[in-house]
Amino acid sequence: MKKIILGTMVVASLAFSGSVPVVADALYQKECASCHFGYQPALLNKASWEKVMGSLSDHFGTDASLNKEDHQAILSYLVRNAGNGKITTNNDTTRITQSAYFKKEHRKIPLNVITQKEVGSLANCMACHTTADKGSYSERDIVVPNYGRWE
Ligand code: HEC
Ligand code: HEC
Repeated sequence: MKKIILGTMVVASLAFSGSVPVVADALYQKECASCHFGYQPALLNKASWEKVMGSLSDHFGTDASLNKEDHQAILSYLVRNAGNGKITTNNDTTRITQSAYFKKEHRKIPLNVITQKEVGSLANCMACHTTADKGSYSERDIVVPNYGRWE
């Protein structure tokens, strides 16, 4: 995270600098990263995670419901580590890919690049961000399938 140094005070800035803390919860990794990439908690704000977790039986066309205990543990992990930076601002949906910042960052990617079988949808972060699992989305680590580096 970008740091702004003010005299002796170090303030973590709210600006998103291309990286987020990695997933650090084994239960979350097991239950929420089996169908897709394990999205880091900082990619959605608290309200969005509550919505995602509140509608798991109808989760983007699938049933991802959990038992009560696991549900509570995962909800608590997500809410505690929810994001509050640029990427989550004004996003009241259940999709990371619907935030204004996300849409702006990805607007130049041609549709046929997104729909090709190696990608499928913008929700498939790892297809292009080779270090997404390490929490890094920086431009130098982007390799778009059948397109190459993004510059
Ligand atoms: C049974 C499979 C399955 C499981 C288990 C699952 N998901 Fe999903 N999830 C999906 C599908 C399918 C999508 C839609 C993907 C797409 O649009 O390409 C999705 C999308 C998402 C998105 C939105 C991505 C975006 O920005 O477009 C979030 C957030 C998400 N899942 C969170 C979770 C969490 C949290 C859990 C664990 C509680 C979970 N998922 C478990 C199938 C699953
Ligand atoms: C089809 C490939 C592709 C997919 C899939 C994709 N991205 Fe990206 N992403 C890009 C490209 C290309 C850029 C750089 C856009 C630019 O600068 O013009 C980018 C930029 C970003 C940035 C800004 C990075 C910075 O340093 O400014 C973030 C954050 C990001 N993506 C997150 C995600 C997340 C989270 C997902 C999954 C929910 C995702 N992306 C899915 C291609 C992709």
